[in-house]
Amino acid sequence: MKFIDLFAGLGGFHTGFANSGYECVFACEIEPHLRKLYKENYGIEPHGDITKVDEAEIPAHDVMCAGFPCQPFSLAGKKKGAECPSSGKLIDHVIRIAKHHTPKFVVLENVPNVITIAEGSFWEYLTSSFSKIGYTIHHKVISPVDIGIPQNRKRVFIVAIRNDLDEGAFIWPETVECPQTSLLDILDERAEHKKLEVAKVELLKHWQSLLEQLSLERLVSTSIVAPEFGATYPLDFSELSLHEMTQYKGAYGADLSECQSWDEVMAKMPSYTKKSRAVSNWLIRSVNFSRELYQSKQEVCDEWAKAIDKNNNSWQILEWRGMHTNMNIYEHIVQFRASGIRILKPNVAPSLISMTPTQIPIIPSQNRYLSAHEAAKLQNLHELPNLPTTIVGAFKALGNAVNAKVIELIASNLKVWKTA
Ligand SMILES: C[S@@+](CC[C@H](N)C(=O)[O-])C[C@H]1O[C@@H](n2cnc3c(N)ncnc32)[C@H](O)[C@@H]1O
Repeated sequence: MKFIDLFAGLGGFHTGFANSGYECVFACEIEPHLRKLYKENYGIEPHGDITKVDEAEIPAHDVMCAGFPCQPFSLAGKKKGAECPSSGKLIDHVIRIAKHHTPKFVVLENVPNVITIAEGSFWEYLTSSFSKIGYTIHHKVISPVDIGIPQNRKRVFIVAIRNDLDEGAFIWPETVECPQTSLLDILDERAEHKKLEVAKVELLKHWQSLLEQLSLERLVSTSIVAPEFGATYPLDFSELSLHEMTQYKGAYGADLSECQSWDEVMAKMPSYTKKSRAVSNWLIRSVNFSRELYQSKQEVCDEWAKAIDKNNNSWQILEWRGMHTNMNIYEHIVQFRASGIRILKPNVAPSLISMTPTQIPIIPSQNRYLSAHEAAKLQNLHELPNLPTTIVGAFKALGNAVNAKVIELIASNLKVWKTA
């Protein structure tokens, strides 16, 4: 059973198919450092740019795998779909190679909105292109949590089945009844990891002290927005005159009565009101909640607010996505985001994306970042002998990779041997 690995990256497809007993006969990957790693890890030297690959040079194979780049289709990306001038067109090369070799199966992976992007036109293009060369497309959204791996990472898996194959040549793997593990179960302190910066250690301690002093019984998907402690300004002040505005209090109860201009007022307002002189709809519930907290524990909040770093906007907001009745930050996962400090339930890691170094999940109980080895475990790539050497490089490549266990389950359900 032979397969090829297009857009090979770190080799999530390779690991999954190899674990299912397949042999890789060709790979391609444009990034030289990933090609080098692939060679070290799997003993195969990938070819480079797919657009330059001559299909006739690729050996015969049963399955073609292609984790085509997701940037043009991801929610964070440009939403251009098939019109995208470079990467969006890479699917044409997958189709070109499939047309030449007619493998029994083509397995693709991408972000789920590849289906709806550009009003579904890319998806329509993909399905009709495969139909024209004799394949029927099946697809399913699967996340590693569905098979018991503590990472939320919804991806669409696409299996194109050659039309002459038996019915039942492929069935989707079972995604239920898997034992659920926690992210905390996969931690390995011995692996090389980055220590949390002292300022962040102190910051988390400071927030924890507030939570303890507030003695909240429940906290459900809301944020504590510290600049609202003592604030009284209307949540939409875009229509107010300067005179009207000076009657209110700004961030942390700042007195606006002496302000002579809007510039002076805005300098005393929370950063999130600066763009439209209003609190955005998505923050209103948390702003109201924070003002109520302040009303109930004014002295605690005032004393606490004295020591919070007011220069760093995102450090002044605690986004609680954690357990509902356990307010101990140290029993959670933390992620520093542009919008605030996000506290996450410990059972599932946030989706590994090509994170900036500061977004790498933090294990607060150990004052450290998740290590590359642990992130590799979340992608079931931890048995690879080599990962990129820098933490940024490792998280980037792991964030681009496909979960190898999901691929292994799909691979073992392709009934290659039953077919002609
Ligand atoms: C979404 S990632 C796929 C990762 C892979 N499935 C894995 O498990 O690591 C897409 C990969 O395609 C590579 N790539 C982008 N353009 C390419 C091209 N023109 N030819 C070959 N590879 C390309 C990128 O460098 C990236 O590693």
